[in-house]
Amino acid sequence: MKLVIAYDHTALEMKAKIAAYLITREIEVLDICADTGVGMEYPIAGYKAATLVASGQADGAVLICGTGVGISLAANKVRGIRACVCSEPYSARMSRAHNDSNVIVFGARVVGIEMAKAIVDAWLDTPFEGDRHAHRVALINQIDETGALES
Ligand code: RB5
Repeated sequence: MKLVIAYDHTALEMKAKIAAYLITREIEVLDICADTGVGMEYPIAGYKAATLVASGQADGAVLICGTGVGISLAANKVRGIRACVCSEPYSARMSRAHNDSNVIVFGARVVGIEMAKAIVDAWLDTPFEGDRHAHRVALINQIDETGALES
C-alpha cells in the first residue's frame, strides 16, 4: 500500500513520527512536502495529495495541518476525494466503514502522537461496509461529479 503524507509548517514533528509509524506498518510513504521545506501552505499540500489519490497514483493520504480543517477543505475540492478530519479513532473507523474515506486528516495542534497513531490504525484497519452505505456514498459522488443531486 502506498500513502501520500502532506502537511504544513505546524505539523513537521507530527508528520515525521507518523511517517515513521506508517513504515513500521510496511506502508510505502510518499512525502510530497519534504522537498518544499517548511513553507508549504496547507491548501497546496492538501490539493497535491488529493490529486495523487484521485488519479490512482496513491492508495490514500494522511494530511496534517494545525487543526486538520484547512487541509481537508482543500483536499475535498478535488473530485473523488472523501477526506475526513478525525480527532479520535471511532470517527476514523466510521469514516471508512460508512463513508469510504480515502483520506484521513487530523490536527497537529489538536491530537497527541499516540492519539494520531490510534486514528491512523483505525482508518487503516477498517474496510468499507458497502450495502446501504454504498448508496449514500454514491449520492455524495453524484454531488461531486455533477454539482447537484437528483432527488
Ligand atoms: C496555520 O496557522 C493554521 O491555520 C493551519 O495549520 C490550519 O490549522 C488551518 O486550517
